[in-house]
Amino acid sequence: MKKLPVVLITGGAGYIGSHAVQEARKNGFDPVSYDNLSLGHAWAVQGSPLVKGELADRKKLSAAFKKFKPAAVMHFASHTSVGESVANPQKYYQDNLTNAMTLFSVMLERKVRYFILSSTAATYGDPVEVPIPETHPQAPINPYGDSKLMLEKILAWYDKAYGLRSTFLRYFNAAGADASGKIGEVHEPETHLIPLVLDAAMGRRKEITVFGQDYPTADGTCIRDYIHVTDLAGAHFLALKRMMEKDKSDFFNLGTGKGFSVKEVITKAEEVTGMKVPVKMGARRAGDPPELVARSSKAMETLGWQPRHSSLENILRTAWAWHQGYFGKIKTSRQPAARSRQARTRH
Ligand SMILES: NC(=O)c1ccc[n+]([C@@H]2O[C@H](COP(=O)([O-])OP(=O)(O)OC[C@H]3O[C@@H](n4cnc5c(N)ncnc54)[C@H](O)[C@@H]3O)[C@@H](O)[C@H]2O)c1
Repeated sequence: MKKLPVVLITGGAGYIGSHAVQEARKNGFDPVSYDNLSLGHAWAVQGSPLVKGELADRKKLSAAFKKFKPAAVMHFASHTSVGESVANPQKYYQDNLTNAMTLFSVMLERKVRYFILSSTAATYGDPVEVPIPETHPQAPINPYGDSKLMLEKILAWYDKAYGLRSTFLRYFNAAGADASGKIGEVHEPETHLIPLVLDAAMGRRKEITVFGQDYPTADGTCIRDYIHVTDLAGAHFLALKRMMEKDKSDFFNLGTGKGFSVKEVITKAEEVTGMKVPVKMGARRAGDPPELVARSSKAMETLGWQPRHSSLENILRTAWAWHQGYFGKIKTSRQPAARSRQARTRH
């Protein structure tokens, strides 16, 4: 049997990384995860090799490259909380920037020339144009987004100097779970809207706080572009194959081009789960732009990518199936939403 090229996936035991691991074989690659399990879970790599290692541990990283001989690297391992990055920038520059520099130096040493970066809409800062195209000015307003933009800049120079090709994938809001129900989102602490809403629906938390209802949007709450994690993972392999074929660096937004407000997400979640989601109104949070929606036509036209799994309903349905399976049965204390009972029978 022909040996598949190996892709080394840092953060392969995390939320998006584990979905990339899942997609790898379907796309003709053998995945090997490198993860310190600080935030990830060994079960999430689903039977593929996992090296439990710290990115800062150059010796261990180098040994993993020597052993598995990857043809390419997908780099998911980083800290991801905007709020935490503002409170503790040292952690973000240390882990997101310095550790990535170690990874690049091992790649150069081992002559691995293809790299996919988990970048983010946070590199754009406050949008001056929505939907946001890839050519939008990049002016991050927090250390998290800034650390990712710095990596993009460093990699552009590495391309010129060393021929290290990279693709920056600027995700909008990753959400949903693999249809198998075997992997999904588990962050501790959780900061993302959809799992928090589902927690409230399940009675795992008392309520969901909506931060700000006076934004210049139709219902006053923030609008975000939710992209299903399976679509996101698939895009990595389309981008990797194209980069290897053309031997050229590139960058793409990954979103659906359609935004939903916080209130719309909550209403849809009640419909899909059939449960009431208790809501508390809170003040705006600093650094939350009113609307973040991607223009993703470049990925669609260049990579032939389509966000097939990303209807809000499918995102919520798969996330709910995962959430219930992982976090246990619905508590009886939470009452089904009256108007949602009927909707539930449709699914
Ligand atoms: N989740 C989103 O909506 C979103 C949006 C934009 C960009 N991103 C980016 O996508 C990537 C993955 O996000 P996620 O939500 O899957 O995060 P996650 O926390 O679920 O996964 C990150 C993984 O990296 C590992 N890790 C962290 N630091 C490490 C280190 N120093 N050495 C080895 N392993 C380490 C963790 O254990 C974890 O398994 C991140 O780079 C993030 O910035 C995520």
